[in-house]
Amino acid sequence: MCGIVGYLGDGNVYEILINGLKRLEYRGYDSAGIALVSPEGKLNVYKTLGKVSNLEAYCRDKNLTARAGIAHTRWATHGEPSDCNAHPHYSEDGRLALVHNGTIENYQVLREALQQHGCHFSTQTDTEVLVQLIEYIRTSNSCTLIEAVREALKQVVGAYAVAIVERGNPDTIIAARKSSPLVVGIGDGETFLGSDGTPFIEYTDKVVYVQDDEIAVITRDQPLKIINLDNEETKVDVKKLEFSIAQLEKGGYDHFMLKEIFEQPSTLTDCIRGRVVDNAQRVLLNGVFDHKEKFMDCNRIIVVACGTSWHAGLLGKQLIQDLCAIPVEVEYASEFRYSHPVITERDIVIAVSQSGETADTLAAIQIAKAKGAFVYGISNVVGASIPRETHSGTYIHVGPEIGVASTKAFTGQVTVFTLLALAIAQLRGTLTQPQIAEVSGHLQQIPHYVKETLKLNDKIRQLSLIYTYARNFLYLGRGYSYPVALEGALKLKEISYIHAEGYPAAEMKHGPIALIDSEMPSVIIAPHDHLYDKIVSNVQQVKSRGGSIIAIVTKGDTVIRDLADHVLEVPDVPECLTPLITSIPLQLLSYYIAINKGKDVDMPRNLAKSVTVE
Ligand code: AGP
Repeated sequence: MCGIVGYLGDGNVYEILINGLKRLEYRGYDSAGIALVSPEGKLNVYKTLGKVSNLEAYCRDKNLTARAGIAHTRWATHGEPSDCNAHPHYSEDGRLALVHNGTIENYQVLREALQQHGCHFSTQTDTEVLVQLIEYIRTSNSCTLIEAVREALKQVVGAYAVAIVERGNPDTIIAARKSSPLVVGIGDGETFLGSDGTPFIEYTDKVVYVQDDEIAVITRDQPLKIINLDNEETKVDVKKLEFSIAQLEKGGYDHFMLKEIFEQPSTLTDCIRGRVVDNAQRVLLNGVFDHKEKFMDCNRIIVVACGTSWHAGLLGKQLIQDLCAIPVEVEYASEFRYSHPVITERDIVIAVSQSGETADTLAAIQIAKAKGAFVYGISNVVGASIPRETHSGTYIHVGPEIGVASTKAFTGQVTVFTLLALAIAQLRGTLTQPQIAEVSGHLQQIPHYVKETLKLNDKIRQLSLIYTYARNFLYLGRGYSYPVALEGALKLKEISYIHAEGYPAAEMKHGPIALIDSEMPSVIIAPHDHLYDKIVSNVQQVKSRGGSIIAIVTKGDTVIRDLADHVLEVPDVPECLTPLITSIPLQLLSYYIAINKGKDVDMPRNLAKSVTVE
């Protein structure tokens, strides 16, 4: 969701910015633009609706010489996607160009006030208000650009990551952040900016994560300077980026999503590595053991998350309740933040987020912290806002996830929840040592079982051809398979645009059963678990109404085989680990259906990878 790139140095500014925008395409966007400051100080802004490739085509005959520049991919919030509303935006006098990620909540009030002072607006965006405000403050107060930026940001309510360049000054970029990600890359005589480190990973792995209410002043031939809104200089804390360029490429697969599905045996190995120890007798999770007393003392856990991460949270609830006997609630972060939640100091709030930047989840964390809860994060992106905002946590370590539809991050999150439940059970003594060893031992084997499950690929590709033109799908599961059903349905709708609903299988008879006919396929997740006999009845209910059935079953199943139209057999694993296996065929099924329909699976319409606005 919106991407920012910036560069100041002696390299080819235009190429570095365009390539950086391409790296950020995975975040989701509808238009793109670039502002270049030439060596003579001329400010050229080019922007177009559509893909970065459109912008490249548009720029082909333009003046692209530059010493500094900023660029942006926009995901529309205020004002329709269009050439005009694309970023960068200018101040009315054309002196400043600004790119922005986030939303200015009080933009209407600011806009009206500026209009009363004679400002004219040429777009519908909140961003134009910010750039005009900075320029208005600068001219009316006769102050420096940095002073004007500080003053303007004090007046702004909302979330932002911004980068600004100025006509007549090819040697400076100013950037700032509040609740939206922004990273500075420190190269050798050159400086980069990005919404994350992906735009500049081939140039430097030294990064500075700009914090809320900080302004980064990037000046040629001078060290990076960071100040706060009160003009106090803060320490420049240089960190190392923890991924490689190879991880950002498709590695021979047609799409990132397919690559990420097939990577799961190795990503889950990475996720488990060093955490199941002593011959699988013990689990080691520093984020838990460093805060033992919190986990010993806690009497309730609340999980906050969005989308796929919320589905992982539902599985976390079952795991923690089953293994640790602690009550767990799972909330959509967007609802939690406005629900006046009752939280005590003995609650632990677990925030789950692949990107580590989801605005609603971040806001939920702030509320939980303000109410005295201990907040634990489960994230993928090292150094992102959520791991920084939480008291403790665990990275899933599955590598960059580029496909908008989350796959390997989901299984990574569920794996971390399994480790977390085992670690808490170990601490609180809710499982015996042999029980811990049994689950841990099977967990260590999961990458192998995922690899086995991926052998269903060809069968699923064939199967997908039969169902490509279905208009609706029902996904049904019980117990541990219910969140898997929700996740399977979400995957299908995200990338194929087919309506799909996930339901607890027994709930079907209270309404959705009315939808079942020969046109409505049901995907039923029915591994051999303690609810198996119950779900067999649900399969029969669908069958007797003429619905076609695709069933995910444990190898060797004979009962459902006779009832379902198609069965996909997966390896037999303990019940609490089944989601790590049964989710794999659902990922492949949605992928192939979307491919058959000619959809852009890595960048589905309207979706963003990192949802940094409310
Ligand atoms: C997953 O396929 C989705 N693209 C989406 O639901 C995602 O899980 C959600 O936006 C939360 O993102 P996060 O994990 O980065 O917080």
